[in-house]
Amino acid sequence: MTSGPVWHPFTQHALQPDAISIARAAGAWLEATDGRRILDAISSWWVVTHGHRHPRIIDAIKKQADALDQVIFAGFTHDPAEELAARLTQRIGLPHAFFSDSGSTAVEVALKMALGFWRNQGINRTRIIALEHAYHGDTIGTMSAGARGIFNAPYDPLLFDVIRLPFPNRGDEDKTLTALKAATADGRAAALIVEPLILGAGGMLTYAPETLRAMAAICQQSQTLFIADEVMTGFGRTGTLLACHQAGITPDILCLAKGITGGSLPLAVTLASTSIFEAHYSEDRRKTFFHSSSYTANPIACAAAVANLNVWDQEPVQERITQIAQWQREMSEGLQTNPRFSDMRLCGTIAAFDLRVADEGYLASIGPKLYDYFLSRGLLLRPLGNTIYIMPPYCITRDELSRIYDAIRDAADHFGARI
Ligand SMILES: Cc1ncc(COP(=O)(O)O)c(C=O)c1O
Repeated sequence: MTSGPVWHPFTQHALQPDAISIARAAGAWLEATDGRRILDAISSWWVVTHGHRHPRIIDAIKKQADALDQVIFAGFTHDPAEELAARLTQRIGLPHAFFSDSGSTAVEVALKMALGFWRNQGINRTRIIALEHAYHGDTIGTMSAGARGIFNAPYDPLLFDVIRLPFPNRGDEDKTLTALKAATADGRAAALIVEPLILGAGGMLTYAPETLRAMAAICQQSQTLFIADEVMTGFGRTGTLLACHQAGITPDILCLAKGITGGSLPLAVTLASTSIFEAHYSEDRRKTFFHSSSYTANPIACAAAVANLNVWDQEPVQERITQIAQWQREMSEGLQTNPRFSDMRLCGTIAAFDLRVADEGYLASIGPKLYDYFLSRGLLLRPLGNTIYIMPPYCITRDELSRIYDAIRDAADHFGARI
């Protein structure tokens, strides 16, 4: 255990003064400095895809570090960024790649591109449309697009208004689509931003590919830009490389981060259509896309991302993902009939369900107790209040996954008297 000057993210230090110090990681496992081994059942905040320290990715990082560590990316370029951009744009079908360094910045960039697209054409479209329960990051713009609540209440005076669509709960999808039609009818909306198929931090809430497709179609009809935030869903989490693939759609703007380097280094990319790029392409310098971060397209991070694409091309990643989705279906069956659980959600490699408690929601008192209980069982699971979810790296074995389900069942029994 450590305590010191570090201020940890999403951590109430008054209640959780000590962080677990991790010395090493390999595959699905973390190893603490005190020798404990912890199974990383949430891929270290949804970033690690193939497992910690995948050899191809680590080799690429070492090689690149020996050649070029960092260079300004305005007016300069380098092979790892060029190769990565070429392969991503070709694979995803959006021709322009803008680099940044986190999911939040990828989304900020997307929102700025959407606004710039309209303004540079002299068209007054400034409204952003977003989904109820959305989470797009922790910067001011991304918090504005995200749901309002305890996460961002202190910053509310700084957040801009968005048009909020009701979440497309199963059976209620028409309400969402009708609201989207209304929001786009007067031609003033700049863009709709969504997390495709599953909303992450908002509670692992799922909706159908048909609904995603219908939202994209309404946007197309009304010439509203469609932004897919695939920061969490990208790189296989939902069972396909991108969640958008399951709906057969290509958005105007697509945000990727987390799994882009296999979860090894911070990097993000915002992919954009030809028309988004062309709206910023001008001899008038005022139409420049004014955005950068110092570490934009860091060469080592780009090399890690190229290696990640090689893993996708040369290893049976899709088979692993399909296998995990199958195991999740099988193993979650027992919980579906267990009265302590409700609202089973399965989406590719992700499984989520709610523990029935009196005080539901992110601040449900059971949340920290579950977290501690799982740690005592050697598992990193970080429930969102009373919502327990499993989002494992793709190297997880059947036995390891089954161990997670055992602990979840036992936790429900353990806390049974109190729920
Ligand atoms: C859908 C989505 N968008 C954006 C973000 C923000 O990413 P980052 O934490 O890398 O800024 C997250 C993070 O969880 C996310 O799930």
